Amino acid sequence: MTSHIGVPAMKGILLAGGTGSRLYPATAAVSKQLLPVYDKPMIYYALSCLMLGRIREILVITRPHDRPAFERLLGDGSRFGLRLVYAEQSRPEGIAQALTIGESFAGGGPVALALGDNVLYGAGLSGQLRNAASLRRGAHVLLYPVANAQDFGVAELDPQGRITALAEKPKRPRSNLAVTGFYFYGPEVFEMARGLKPSSRGELEITDLNRLFLAEGRLSATQFGRGVAWLDTGTPEGLHEAAAFVRAIEQRQGLKISCPEEIAWRLGWLEDAQLAEQAEALDGTAYGTYLAGLLGERAIRTHVVG
Ligand code: DAU
Repeated sequence: MTSHIGVPAMKGILLAGGTGSRLYPATAAVSKQLLPVYDKPMIYYALSCLMLGRIREILVITRPHDRPAFERLLGDGSRFGLRLVYAEQSRPEGIAQALTIGESFAGGGPVALALGDNVLYGAGLSGQLRNAASLRRGAHVLLYPVANAQDFGVAELDPQGRITALAEKPKRPRSNLAVTGFYFYGPEVFEMARGLKPSSRGELEITDLNRLFLAEGRLSATQFGRGVAWLDTGTPEGLHEAAAFVRAIEQRQGLKISCPEEIAWRLGWLEDAQLAEQAEALDGTAYGTYLAGLLGERAIRTHVVG
């Protein structure tokens, strides 16, 4: 796919490996990113964010033995108006390894890397993701204020809002701004990722990669405010709270958060008839009823994806 000005459109890499050890034994037989966050699999949330960025070609990276389950869930992506392909990460050797695994898939174009356990929702998000995904060179990260910055990658900013330093899980964080698991890169990232060395914990660190861009003055950031929710799904408490959040909003509004079929339809990637077919296939389920209901509510079609 090529954008209207001839520059390759940004592709996506959705990383869904790792051990999920903090959620054990829930993750003993099932990949963490397939666990439900309230009413849908965790990976739907990060997938939806890539879609809101208008990214339609996505590589899903899984552990080798989990791959069939992801393929059963997501297929070739056509149900969501997407093209999905799969690759495996044989060992969890770091988030930045997703870029070496995904290099040939990207085909020399820009890429967005999303962690499949991140849940992001809120006002204005669609436009912000779209802006971030318009990047063609350099790197861009999304920052979010948290009370427990020591648990994340942390960014320090100067008074103009430019990043001056990045630290991975610092004991004493120098700001409250966590680097979320959505990263946007120009094609030069692949060569830079190839040159990374494993850290003291034996991983190719995404923060080390981002620091290389920072050192060259090519790292920019979007800073989210109060109108956005970035939720933790890595622990039983976090997962429970994220599910409760999604349930509260969905029940109040009658609209689903991160429903990929709905996003695809609102973006015009699925025709009414295609959505109707999917609703039909899920007839008798609450999800199918929701999809069918969208077709009856033309009036709201315009106001969700900005
Ligand atoms: O969620 C944002 C945070 O993600 C960032 O603020 C941190 O800078 C970044 O290092 C990362 O921190 P985590 O502690 O969440 O990293 P974790 O090792 O848990 O990996 C995040 C997800 O990526 C997790 O769902 C598993 C997956 N993963 C991780 C590694 C290391 C893989 O699929 N393969 C891997 O090799």
